[in-house]
Amino acid sequence: MMRIIKAKSYQDLSRKAANIISAQVILKPNCVLGLATGSTPLGTYRQLVEWYRKDDIDFSKVTTFNLDEYVGLRPDDPQSYYSYMRQNLFDLTNLRPGSCHVPDGCAVDLAAACRDYDAAISEAGGIDLQLLGIGSNGHIAFNEPGAAFEKDTHIVSLRESTIAANSRFFPDGCVPRQAITMGIRLIMQARKILLIADGPGKRNALHRALYGPISAEIPASILQLHPDLTVICHVKEDD
Ligand code: F6R
Repeated sequence: MMRIIKAKSYQDLSRKAANIISAQVILKPNCVLGLATGSTPLGTYRQLVEWYRKDDIDFSKVTTFNLDEYVGLRPDDPQSYYSYMRQNLFDLTNLRPGSCHVPDGCAVDLAAACRDYDAAISEAGGIDLQLLGIGSNGHIAFNEPGAAFEKDTHIVSLRESTIAANSRFFPDGCVPRQAITMGIRLIMQARKILLIADGPGKRNALHRALYGPISAEIPASILQLHPDLTVICHVKEDD
């Protein structure tokens, strides 16, 4: 089942997404959340932190798994997704550090790190609610157009265009060239998916993902087959 909720503004989108995550935590205090980085979830995390500070949400029993991480960046590198999560959510709530998982981009044996991540998700009982953003080319996590649908956590080489776009964040020129990412099969195993899309730049990708043919060219199009997908979007040109 697919629900599409049109938000009035980015703030409205963020509050609605935070409400759904909050409801999940109320209904199942020891739930497993799948989390995303990027600019879109920032408002959602801000809202969750605000509610935590008002004592309206308790993360003490929650477990989290992030979608992805750059290969070669230490967790304490300011550009790592782990740092992003600490800054925007982990360190600002009562999530227990041992319950917050981000793929290990610094593992000596990356293939083993991928298998361990899959195993940790299974051991935790699987993901109850997965938060997702969408790329303007239809990607989800680091599954770019053309990615296979049947993968769990795996290593991907970043496209030259992504490396070029990221280079502004890496003044020393050491731009990561690979990432460790949940694959589409693993993402599709989440019991519920919450996809958030903001800005006219996402309009075309979102439209193709939700209404176009299911195709590896638009990785997010596979979400049409998910039994419990909620989309919150704010992609109109005029507001
Ligand atoms: C983030 C991730 C990415 C983003 C996507 C949208 O963990 O996996 O797929 O969700 O690139 O990014 P923003 O929200 O910055 O537009």
